[in-house]
Amino acid sequence: MTDLRRPRVLGQSPRRVDGPAKVTGTARYAGDQRVVDPAYVHLVQAAVARGVLTGVDVSAARLVDGVLAVLTPDNAPRLASTEDAELAAFQSHDIAFRGQVVAAVVARTREIARQAAALVHVEIDHESHDVHLSADRDDLYAPEQVNTGAATDTERGDVATGLAHSPFTLDQTYTTAWYNNNPMEPHTTTALWLDGDLALFDSTQGVHTTREATAKVLGLEPRHVHVIAPHVGGGFGSKGTAHVHVVIAAMAAQAVPGTPVKLALTRQQMFALVGYRTPTVQRVRLGCDADGRLAAIAVDAVGQTSRIKEFAEQTAVPSRMMYAAPNRRTTHRLAALDVPVPAWMRAPGECPGMFGPEVAVDELASACGVDPVEFRVRNEPAVEPESGKPFSSRNLVACLREGARRFGWEHRDPAPRAREEDGWLVGTGVAASTYPVTRTPGSSATIRCTGPGRYRVRIGAADLGTGTWTSLAQVAADALGVDFGDVELLIGDTSLPRASVAGGSSGITSWGSTVVAAAEAFREEFGADPAEGDEAGAEMPEGSDEYAMHAFGAQFAEVRVRVDTGEVRVSRLLGVFAVGRVVNPRLARSQLVGGMTMGLSMALHEHSVVDERFGHVVNHDFAEYHIATNSDVPRVEAHWVEEHDPHTNPMGTKGIGEIGIVGTAAAIVNAAHHATGVRVRDLPLTLDHFL
Ligand code: MOS
Repeated sequence: MTDLRRPRVLGQSPRRVDGPAKVTGTARYAGDQRVVDPAYVHLVQAAVARGVLTGVDVSAARLVDGVLAVLTPDNAPRLASTEDAELAAFQSHDIAFRGQVVAAVVARTREIARQAAALVHVEIDHESHDVHLSADRDDLYAPEQVNTGAATDTERGDVATGLAHSPFTLDQTYTTAWYNNNPMEPHTTTALWLDGDLALFDSTQGVHTTREATAKVLGLEPRHVHVIAPHVGGGFGSKGTAHVHVVIAAMAAQAVPGTPVKLALTRQQMFALVGYRTPTVQRVRLGCDADGRLAAIAVDAVGQTSRIKEFAEQTAVPSRMMYAAPNRRTTHRLAALDVPVPAWMRAPGECPGMFGPEVAVDELASACGVDPVEFRVRNEPAVEPESGKPFSSRNLVACLREGARRFGWEHRDPAPRAREEDGWLVGTGVAASTYPVTRTPGSSATIRCTGPGRYRVRIGAADLGTGTWTSLAQVAADALGVDFGDVELLIGDTSLPRASVAGGSSGITSWGSTVVAAAEAFREEFGADPAEGDEAGAEMPEGSDEYAMHAFGAQFAEVRVRVDTGEVRVSRLLGVFAVGRVVNPRLARSQLVGGMTMGLSMALHEHSVVDERFGHVVNHDFAEYHIATNSDVPRVEAHWVEEHDPHTNPMGTKGIGEIGIVGTAAAIVNAAHHATGVRVRDLPLTLDHFL
């Protein structure tokens, strides 16, 4: 076996194996798959947020030449399971949110389907709806648990006493906005039935999890559903769970026997149908002594969920492990509203949940006159504060110190509004990042010798644009002790061994551990000189839960605010991360810079604006939902410290897909305060805050 302490392929930067196909336009995404004579599906959505569907008149739509079928709750087949109400297409006449699908037109062309969909006449008895999120609502409730299975509330010591004995205290409320996932490739499914088996070319972060969800709803054995996703144009979590359009594509293909169908959501439809990040209200209370040592940390988080399906963002979870304090408490409360179903968006929990606390730390550090880098260093816990577990490795301090050095923090005048250049107030800020190391059960892999020194590795993993085609092949080559070019990796297909979903930055930990176990099994059985056709496989080995395992980072921002107009510009972002071993520096940098850029976008622009009178996101396209463009994005530097963690997995990695977005918005808000003296606690950081 290869000595993993002396890696060869891990740490190199081979170019993306999928790169040439993508840049030459030959990579086939879910909508590009060649099927014979496909039909196209266009969805019709409810235009009210709550009510009862009393009639769907499809007569005009049916008369359009080229229309093959129109599905509605009146004619659609009954589904085998409606347990997941989000996926229960056409099973009820109740309208639970504006944008809910009420009909689907299947037609010869995309254009005909869309034209006919506009002719479907929908009647709804409108009931009064409620989409107003507020921490003052008297119907907030405590979910049984929050996303990732974490406890809803935690308490250690006594926060009230801790605060009462603290010379410096803070009690502030911070809010993050409603954000919609906007991967470049809209959610698309090509569906076809053959002899009772269903094939789905789907833009998904997990072929097996999509198969299992779809099979359950349709009442099929999973082996009768074949899901294929070689290339995915981004997901950010919104392709991590199956959404209703996947079920509708399957139903539509059933309605036109022998005809494959293609269903691509429009950008506007995505704003109601593929999940989004809940807005949050975070009350943060902190108390510290004159040296900045925290005695109490309390975070009470409020978010929203839909009336038909619960999703509880784990907003307060990162506060359970970031800083030491004897007295601590976290809570999560939800409002169930007449809104679309929220779901995962890049770093659910950590991303919104590190906003309030990391701004609060900046406020408290400034109140007690301690530098905000130093304040964080002083509150380093020796063990994970609430679990008492040792950290497998924790290098937040190294990130803060290295970031401060690279950024030039030592020259900073801590006084706000001290620097003005050509009509711009300039300031700098810092915030910490964190993300857990997650090992998701349920993966297996096989390795086969396909010729002298050649190996084929099979696992149904996903590449949603993150680089799995390349990085997982590196893990395999390293484990087999061969060159990168000697490994052929196959992923993205349910005909391959089952793999867990690409979510929670768990991909390389879960699939990589599995591939390493398969390589060990292969070498054990066949030695270093196998014959063609030799094959071995393994399931993912269990990991240890002895240690608290988290990645960390420190983000530094420079912000300019125009004195006369309040215009906000981020002129520099620098992040230093401790993410274990880096498999492929080129791809890692791209993930971290991408995350930081998305954090900048969240800080300055992104905001799904809800019109409470109608219950929908009004800025539901790229014309009005502003995402940072090239000219918004300054020099973004992502660095990492050397970190050798023997506990996370055999590769020593920690997961890098999500940590880059965590903490960015807080660093930018803290820099804006340093620039202007104005403390913004509500995102986004628009110019009106400074006027
Ligand atoms: Mo990530 S939001 O868990 O795909």
